[in-house]
Amino acid sequence: MDFSMFEPIMAELEKSLKPYRKDFPTFSRLPAEGRDRKEVIALMEKLRAIEAKKWKDGYVSGAVYHGDEEFIDFLTTIYAINSQSNPLHADVWPSASKFEAEIVAMTANMLGAASVTSSDPEQQICGAVSSGGTESILLAMKTYRDWARETKGIQAPEMIAPSTAHAAFDKASEYFGITMHRIPVGQDFRADVAAVRAAMNENTIVIVGSAPPFPHGIVDPIDELSELARSKGIGFHTDACLGGFLLPWAEKLGYPVPPFDFRLPGVTSISADTHKYGYAAKGTSVVLYRGLALRRFQYFSVTDWPGGLYFSPTFSGSRPGALSAVCWAAMVSLGEKGYTEAARRILETTAWLKKEIRSIAELQVIGDPLFMVAMRSDVLDIYKLMEFMTRRRWGLNGLHLPPSVHLCVTQRHAQPGVKERFMSDLREAVAFVKKNPDAPEGVGPIYGMAAQVPLRGMVKEILGRYMDILYKV
Ligand SMILES: Cc1ncc(COP(=O)(O)O)c(C=O)c1O
Repeated sequence: MDFSMFEPIMAELEKSLKPYRKDFPTFSRLPAEGRDRKEVIALMEKLRAIEAKKWKDGYVSGAVYHGDEEFIDFLTTIYAINSQSNPLHADVWPSASKFEAEIVAMTANMLGAASVTSSDPEQQICGAVSSGGTESILLAMKTYRDWARETKGIQAPEMIAPSTAHAAFDKASEYFGITMHRIPVGQDFRADVAAVRAAMNENTIVIVGSAPPFPHGIVDPIDELSELARSKGIGFHTDACLGGFLLPWAEKLGYPVPPFDFRLPGVTSISADTHKYGYAAKGTSVVLYRGLALRRFQYFSVTDWPGGLYFSPTFSGSRPGALSAVCWAAMVSLGEKGYTEAARRILETTAWLKKEIRSIAELQVIGDPLFMVAMRSDVLDIYKLMEFMTRRRWGLNGLHLPPSVHLCVTQRHAQPGVKERFMSDLREAVAFVKKNPDAPEGVGPIYGMAAQVPLRGMVKEILGRYMDILYKV
């Protein structure tokens, strides 16, 4: 594979990924003598100031979901109080176990646990705190693999996920040896139920649906999919990493929210990210299960290790208890009212943006999302539009299959003037790309290549080299 034509692109990428080499000290080995703490703090403050400019004023899609100064200060105080806490040592820090148990219970109740009135432990909604959406998904898929092996004797497990379900499901497939069946979405960008039915066989252990998926924000037909799973006695996972902390409040506010949570009897697990619309600091998420027995398949323990009896409920051993404390503090300090008001701002901002974008003839909003605005175009190169927006400081997410870009709306975009600024730049972007269809290429060619089977290997190589750059000093 001749990589030489990509060398210039990689060199440019390296420059943009390593912007501090010139003006900040680089440490490739420990300094002989420790640097002064004040100096270290000053360096951190400088870096923070540079990077906050990128997200504070609402230029980035997703990424920072709350970000108000006072709220961040509050969370930082909570972190500082708990910085030594480690949930692995529940005897030393029972507060960590209190916080995590309550985070799980509050999330479960928000997601329909109260609809389970039976006292049967097999119906009880329970769960665990993980480090993020990906870990919650990996945990759930490993749980189904082990559950199916033990209770059904399935040795060659398979899972079914719509094409739009998060890449973390592919990661789970690869890590845990579960064969993945990706099924298409329909014209409406929702999972094709008939295709799911056709992909099922005796080795299927779990079906996945998203509320909503990352690319276009359109909730899958979870009611039909979860019933299909229930009728075959297999698991159904709702990935509500994005929507878990928004959709319940959207529903209360009267927005059309399709059913997705434990009120559907076929839903046997849910992932919901506290570090997205739960407004906690990065590093926590919740995975929930229907039934205590199912959760047991997530746990790990060793009884014959010289280091003693070892057990841990999630992938990590030692974990940052401070992040769980921060998550708990975010949840109890916002409360239902805080979450509802935050949701109202986001939903109103999105409704306004959808209306404005729909008034631009060259662009189409994909479907009718509540808080994720994905756009495509039949007449313009959408990646050139994204390129123009990047030059105007906007950090949109590039999507493909089909080519599109999205803005995941957060509290940052609900600040006064942000949505108007976005639309004004977007209109200019459309006019520019229309007038200059041959403007310099950005990420477009790479996305184009990724869509073509013979060139995918090359794109994988580019991504590998990208990750190598991340670890260069
Ligand atoms: C729907 C969905 N699921 C899972 C994830 C993965 O979450 P994380 O990046 O926290 O691992 C994301 C991230 O954006 C997501 O949007």
